[in-house]
Amino acid sequence: MARKVSRLGGLALAGFLFLSGWWPAAAQGTVVVYCGVQEEWCRAAVSAFERETGIKVAMTRKSAGEVYAQIKAESANPRGDVWWGGTGDPHMTAAEEELTEAYRSPKLGELQDWAVRQWEQAKGRTVGIYSGALGFGYNTKEVAAKKVGEPKCWADLLDPKLKDEVQVADPNSSGTAYTLLATIVQLMGEEKGFEYLKALHRNVNQYTKSGAAPAKAAALGETAIGITFMHDMVTMVVDGAPVKVVAPCEGTGYEIGSMSIVKGARNLDNAKKWYDWALSPAAQEIGAKAKNYQVPSNRNASIPAEAPKLGEIKLINFDFAKYGTSEERRRLLSRWDREVKNLPK
Ligand code: F6P
Repeated sequence: MARKVSRLGGLALAGFLFLSGWWPAAAQGTVVVYCGVQEEWCRAAVSAFERETGIKVAMTRKSAGEVYAQIKAESANPRGDVWWGGTGDPHMTAAEEELTEAYRSPKLGELQDWAVRQWEQAKGRTVGIYSGALGFGYNTKEVAAKKVGEPKCWADLLDPKLKDEVQVADPNSSGTAYTLLATIVQLMGEEKGFEYLKALHRNVNQYTKSGAAPAKAAALGETAIGITFMHDMVTMVVDGAPVKVVAPCEGTGYEIGSMSIVKGARNLDNAKKWYDWALSPAAQEIGAKAKNYQVPSNRNASIPAEAPKLGEIKLINFDFAKYGTSEERRRLLSRWDREVKNLPK
């Protein structure tokens, strides 16, 4: 009798928890997400999605060029379902090579024009989820110690007093660094641009794998200057680091962070659920809570107060279609490998 009563009590409690929305959603299968933003944001997004849908997420964080290479290598036997985040160029390349699946989300109508344009240019195979401008940041103490003026322009990074004091990622692995390569070429013209990158090489202490690593290094004073997306430097400022964020005076490029569904995804329905969810205002607002300050693509998502104001930055008219093509990307990267990366200092 006592056992029966306690079983009834247990059922009543479960019913109450379920009705009050506290009970976790029932298991709904899995989805494999290749995440291209910062680890903290990846993890926060995964927890929220799992909580809301009951779908289990297997997530790995990688840089944009690395995810592209992985999806290509796995194309005969796809392991990933969604590629969420990372600069748009390799997403565009993957779209052109049909490594990703076309999908029209019911959320498409809620997005900013630049996010929809990305989707249209990729014939529906990728969509914009956020935007942010490229720039650099410097450690005020380190720069003062070098006795150089406050750097404001791309040209200032070539000062010989900054030898081994600039850090940036390798454009083969990093979407940030590929954005730099494409930006410099568009801003200065290809020949002058490569002259600039060769001169910059003299001051580069390390080409990192991930694009945001130089922001952390600048915050710690391991490098005086880091070239990154401006929002990644803002994270360091918010954390109290002695860092100043710069929108280069000559003008700069920007990214349309993107999302794609892997062609042949094993968990296609769940991939679409992630995709629709990731375009919702609530999901996009998780970024700022994890101290990531990009501009979200859903018009109804609030723009973090800390996000660099794109309207106030001198942005170049970045040709995403051209610099996202397979041929252009391969050509520019191999020229950079040949003429810049292995140049003796
Ligand atoms: O930190 C986030 C971020 O800067 C994104 O805005 C960008 O899409 C991504 O990192 C690029 O990372 P990576 O340069 O490592 O490919």
